Amino acid sequence: MKTQATKITKLASLVCAALFTLHSPASFADTQAEFIVDTAKVGVTINKNIYGQFAEHLGHGIYEGIWVGKDSEIANTDGFRNDVIQALKDLQVPLIRWPGGCFADEYHWRDGIGDPAKRPIKVNTHWGGVEETNAFGTHEFFQLAEMLGAQTYVNGNLGTGTPQEMAEWMEYMTSDKNSTLANERRKNGREQPFKVDYFTIGNEAWGCGGHMRPEYYADLYNHYATFLKAPHGSRPTMVASGGSGNARGLEWTDVLSKNIQRNMHAISYHYYTLPTNKWDKKGEAVNFPEKEWYSTMLNTLKMDEFISQNVAVLDKNDPEKKIGFYVDEWGTWYDAEPGREPGFLYQQNTMRDAVVAAVNFNIFHKHAERVHMTNIAQMVNVLQAMILTDKEKMLLTPTYHAYKMYVPFQDAKQLDVHTQVMQYIQVGDNSIPAVSMTAAKTQDGDTVLALVNLSATEKSDVDVSVLGTKFSKAQGQILTAKKMNAHNTFADPAEVKPKDFSQRAKRGKLSFDLPAHSVIVVTLK
Ligand code: AHR
Repeated sequence: MKTQATKITKLASLVCAALFTLHSPASFADTQAEFIVDTAKVGVTINKNIYGQFAEHLGHGIYEGIWVGKDSEIANTDGFRNDVIQALKDLQVPLIRWPGGCFADEYHWRDGIGDPAKRPIKVNTHWGGVEETNAFGTHEFFQLAEMLGAQTYVNGNLGTGTPQEMAEWMEYMTSDKNSTLANERRKNGREQPFKVDYFTIGNEAWGCGGHMRPEYYADLYNHYATFLKAPHGSRPTMVASGGSGNARGLEWTDVLSKNIQRNMHAISYHYYTLPTNKWDKKGEAVNFPEKEWYSTMLNTLKMDEFISQNVAVLDKNDPEKKIGFYVDEWGTWYDAEPGREPGFLYQQNTMRDAVVAAVNFNIFHKHAERVHMTNIAQMVNVLQAMILTDKEKMLLTPTYHAYKMYVPFQDAKQLDVHTQVMQYIQVGDNSIPAVSMTAAKTQDGDTVLALVNLSATEKSDVDVSVLGTKFSKAQGQILTAKKMNAHNTFADPAEVKPKDFSQRAKRGKLSFDLPAHSVIVVTLK
């Protein structure tokens, strides 16, 4: 479903050449944006797995963040920390990808089953060179998913594993027969097969997964996938590991969609938002200049362009639209905090991250026809996390709150959003829209709207006309804060949190006064 712009006001460029400036709306237009939502124009389902998470064996993403072990003084159930599990349950996490990432291509599943005391200690060579105890393995992963009611997405080891190892893992997890592997699973405490909902072969094969050409990866995929067998009715959705937001991203989508012959239901894609777009100096998570607020917005909006370009390739190679396009890693990536292990990718999370998350949700909704899954990197303590922990303490990040506010969009149906007026913010030689919007019809039949103000400093007046439904008000929540870099700390974990929000309608029209750097999600009543 397309969002069209019929009248574009490039306000900032008219007023002033200075960068990053959105000027007073009074002299140009009454509103920064005007939208028309047509509730009769219903699109495809926004798959709940667009709100999927990624949990890698990386830093304190799993160990300490989710898993503390049964003997920990931190309150836990079977080794899972109670506070984090409860917060993730509240978030209605639909799906978790595990065990990596780059880690997946060095992970040997046999290391993580059986008596924990006998599991080998390995070195996590990708992430900090720390000891990997393998205390968290296959059974623990599925227990986590079951505790959260989440679907599972398992990442197989292509880089250092064999087809036999991968095929045996699949059999171990899914077989209902009297086979030796299935019985080993039973001996390890799990009678019924695990439910592997999605499975991918390798990760970033163009990089940490083996520095391959897409043609070579496609051959390997065909090879490995041939031997991955699960009982009829329990076969996972199979994902080929695709490209990323660099020059060769499209080539991967093109080559894989042409050359993978069998058993591929989707191609994945990775794109991270860096404020500076430079890997050696990405930008700070909290103490960033206003200029980097806007470069972050500009860079995160590229997701829309990347998805459109890749979908165009798929439309050519797969006109029947059988192949999904899964953004199975995305999010902000900042410089490591001084004094912390850089390989742990721990970063704080501010209002900027919440706005980035919401902008991306709106983009994913727009592309829901092909984008059936995305996984933010990562769930706890790593990159753009939902939750940060420090020993027994835990806090919810602004990104967590954005995810929670958007829960009504899970499995809702797209609604047509027509952009009548949009003012743009000049960012260097580029411009970004002042406001991002999405709308959907929920499974309960409600109309839900989300609006995001991308300005760091200026409020936006936004008019939304809704056709085809009767309502008198919009009710929901708003997430904003005084400062663009407001964030939650262990000393003040509630600095950024959603507040109730309500707006009366006049003759089918809602007029919102969106504060700077804010996210609003409302249901029509
Ligand atoms: O999410 C962190 C890392 O980023 C992943 O392990 C890898 O796939 C990507 O490069």
